[in-house]
Amino acid sequence: MELFSSTIAPFPSSPHPHSLMSLKRSSGSGVFLCSRSSGNAQSFKENRMVVSITGATGFIGRRLVQKLLSDNHGVHVLTRSRRNAQLIFPVESFPEVTIAEEQQWGNSIQVSDAVVNLAGMPISTRWSPEIKKEIKQSRINVTAKVVHLINQMNADVRPSVLVSATAIGYYGTSENKVFDEASPSGHDYLSEVCREWEGRALEVDKDVRLVLIRIGVVLGKDGGALAKMIPLFMMFAGGPLGTGNQWFSWIHLDDLVNLICEALTNPSYKGVINGTAPNPVRLSEMCKELGNVMGRPSWLPVPDFALKAVLGEGATLVLDGQKVIPAKAKELGFSFKYPSIRNALKAIISSS
Ligand SMILES: NC(=O)c1ccc[n+]([C@@H]2O[C@H](COP(=O)([O-])OP(=O)(O)OC[C@H]3O[C@@H](n4cnc5c(N)ncnc54)[C@H](OP(=O)(O)O)[C@@H]3O)[C@@H](O)[C@H]2O)c1
Repeated sequence: MELFSSTIAPFPSSPHPHSLMSLKRSSGSGVFLCSRSSGNAQSFKENRMVVSITGATGFIGRRLVQKLLSDNHGVHVLTRSRRNAQLIFPVESFPEVTIAEEQQWGNSIQVSDAVVNLAGMPISTRWSPEIKKEIKQSRINVTAKVVHLINQMNADVRPSVLVSATAIGYYGTSENKVFDEASPSGHDYLSEVCREWEGRALEVDKDVRLVLIRIGVVLGKDGGALAKMIPLFMMFAGGPLGTGNQWFSWIHLDDLVNLICEALTNPSYKGVINGTAPNPVRLSEMCKELGNVMGRPSWLPVPDFALKAVLGEGATLVLDGQKVIPAKAKELGFSFKYPSIRNALKAIISSS
């Protein structure tokens, strides 16, 4: 098996002189990987980690992989399909990425300092009873598998941190409530999915630092809700979606990736952290700003049915909405590069 040989990225032969790194021997390969111990104040860049990522081939995962590689970390892509993952991370462009199919996930996790769990079937589809079951099961199954693999490892080879995705759907929807990490869960289907998804992650061994990121609507140019909404928005010349009064709790993809990276290395990051920008907006404002940025006047409302046509019942998140505040990230001093929707949209649209 090639897993631990040619595809492992180069790593320092001795611990970083200024850090508290420990050495971690990968099984059977004779190579040493650097593992970061908690409390280290050195920068993310200087402390090389090996990170295993489920859902690495997705919208968020792809950007996370790029960021980790650019900061000189090692990455194991835990995927259901090597063939698909190789198309996304071709060996010529990503020689330092290790791709692992399900039967190899344990080996990858064993040589990793951290695991990021992002896998799940997309929710922007039509929600038949079967699909709803798969949306939930896909998240629960992958999370349970990752947690099981971590828990069965000896403490000396176990990764020290698990960053697991969940969503602001946990809180349910509301036009007037404000949700932070202490808010109770909602009563709809997505809240149930998030509770069970988080529940599986919470089963990880108590010695592993667990960070649950409740992710908002991620804005980026190459995927997610915005990529689907922009053509629709262009078609209807940029009017509000639905009534426009719904809250839109968004986050720029780069900020989310930075938050995940911070959660990987900073031992103060523990438990639930909302992955949303500090300034959620009403959907009408988001549409106005998108119209401005795209140079289109905002005058025709985009009807619910059109949004549902591209986002399926997953449009609920956008059409009903919720106002979610990143109280914990602020308390931890996380610095958002894109705190305002205008700058976030400008950056995204101008980069396309
Ligand atoms: N994007 C957002 O706005 C947003 C908002 C809130 C929460 N989240 C959550 O954050 C996570 C990552 O989001 P994303 O937008 O990057 O997702 P994505 O682009 O849809 O990618 C998710 C990845 O999950 C894996 N996957 C897909 N279907 C699966 C299934 N049936 N069973 C197991 N694995 C499956 C795939 O990886 P492989 O094919 O390589 O296995 C896929 O690349 C998701 O769990 C999502 O629910 C995202």
